[in-house]
Amino acid sequence: MDGNGRWAAAKGLPRLEGHRRGAERLIEIIDACIDEGIGTLTVFAFSAENWKRPLEEVSGLFKLGEWILRAHLARLEKRNVRLRVIGDITALPDFVRGPLEDVMASSKANTAFTLVVALNYGARQEIVAAAQAIATDVAAGTLAPAAVDWSVVEARLQTAGMPDPDLIIRTSGEFRLSNFLLLQSAYAEIVFASVFWPDFDKAQLKLALAEFAKRERRFGQTGEQVQPAAAP
Ligand code: IPE
Ligand code: MG
Repeated sequence: MDGNGRWAAAKGLPRLEGHRRGAERLIEIIDACIDEGIGTLTVFAFSAENWKRPLEEVSGLFKLGEWILRAHLARLEKRNVRLRVIGDITALPDFVRGPLEDVMASSKANTAFTLVVALNYGARQEIVAAAQAIATDVAAGTLAPAAVDWSVVEARLQTAGMPDPDLIIRTSGEFRLSNFLLLQSAYAEIVFASVFWPDFDKAQLKLALAEFAKRERRFGQTGEQVQPAAAP
């Protein structure tokens, strides 16, 4: 969800106002995703690198997170949304980690939609942790080095049990993944939207989905192999 700061600056507003408008947009986009029949949405809310921002912005973001959780909780429950988190939330302040853990627990059995919030998340940090877990199991003698395959790695990622992303949308005109789901994105289609996140509305989502629908996903095969007419 990139571009909140620039959206605000372009309007002569404080950066935190951009984050607030971005948070409102997220609620709209969650609704739109459910209406589109999408099963899982992962949003990059706070990266492991975002701690480098001014303290005022970091604490403003956490306060906003706590507010959005409280203000929209009933609506999420009503829509049967499960909340999950990836990233190291032990480092987050208690006032946001507490409610987050409560909602994760209370929404565990919800099945209509999964909202995954990446908080203090970094793909490289995730991969390092998985490597450490594998090394620990190998050292303990419970895992043979030759038995390490993709499923062993995948099971130790924070996204274990979640589907790989089919589509990744990066807003604000930037063309990079910025340490987001690096392994899981291996076959993701990537759409770059030029608008800042607070301007990414339902119509923008529809445009991104239309772009996604046009892509031919070959997963290493030839076009002939994956075309429906040619399928066995
Ligand atoms: C939101 O946009 C991303 C968050 C960390 C919440 P930015 O804050 O990165 O906005 P820009 O890139 O400065 O415009
Ligand atoms: Mg940014």
